[in-house]
Amino acid sequence: AYENILVEKKPPIGYITVNRPKVLNALNIKTVLELMDAFEGMANDDEVRVVILTGSGEKSFVAGADIKEFQNLSPDGARQYAMRGQKLLNLIERLGKPVIAAINGYALGGGCEIAMACTIRVASENAKLGQPEVGLGLIPGYGGTQRLPRLVGKGRAYEMILTGRHIDATRAEQIGLVNKVVPQASLMEECENIAKAIAKQAPLAIRYCLEAVDRGLNGSLDDGLALEADLFGLVFGSEDVKEGVSAFIEKRKPEFR
Ligand code: CAA
Repeated sequence: AYENILVEKKPPIGYITVNRPKVLNALNIKTVLELMDAFEGMANDDEVRVVILTGSGEKSFVAGADIKEFQNLSPDGARQYAMRGQKLLNLIERLGKPVIAAINGYALGGGCEIAMACTIRVASENAKLGQPEVGLGLIPGYGGTQRLPRLVGKGRAYEMILTGRHIDATRAEQIGLVNKVVPQASLMEECENIAKAIAKQAPLAIRYCLEAVDRGLNGSLDDGLALEADLFGLVFGSEDVKEGVSAFIEKRKPEFR
């Protein structure tokens, strides 16, 4: 039983919803800890192949860290605060299964950051994304200074981080911050379509693709290529490769396990 999130499972999809609509789903410490627990549960549940993360209501995905918790925060407390959030986002990024962010409104500060830790981002037309921390006198603390430039390039990331301005969904799609923009009424359906397409594929291959891209991007091209070759080798130890290749040759649909 969680206080601030909703968790649901309709195999092959797991749903996690931040549920503090009165504060536009701002992330307080309790919510971060609950999300960690829920994502760990999804990671260990073989029936869940893809997770969809969203926010309650029609106005906001996540409006950032809960600013009320910043009052009286000591420098060391703030460092711990950032590290706790970063741990959650690393967990999401390295879950071993894809996480789709269904951005149904404001994704600001920690909200934009948690979306960036997801594998794929789909936004509704009313979504607004931004890193407004400098307007509060602080800086992004849940990975914004690192993941945003990796996703959209240094110049565009600087523009968002230094002006603190929100951008709309169309602009977010233009700069590659979200994969696509859809009307709010079809946001969940669109995310579920992507999730189902992924869930049809071989689960081990999906896991290795995530690892190759995520770990590869953090190192040199040569290291990334070596990792890819290793994982390409490793995946050949799976029954699913035999099944996938035979199914192609026998002109039938594969049944992955
Ligand atoms: N923390 C705590 N409460 C928040 C919040 C947040 N991040 N965002 C919104 N709320 C609360 C408001 O205080 C308000 O509560 P009350 O009704 O009790 O006053 C309620 O949610 C509704 O918000 P508004 O009345 O402000 O709604 P609006 O439509 O006028 O504005 C908004 C919406 C532009 C998103 C505005 O709420 C806003 O600017 N929110 C703060 C966004 C922000 O700065 N996020 C970054 C936080 S810092 C961070 O995330 C650091 C990090 O990297 C980890």
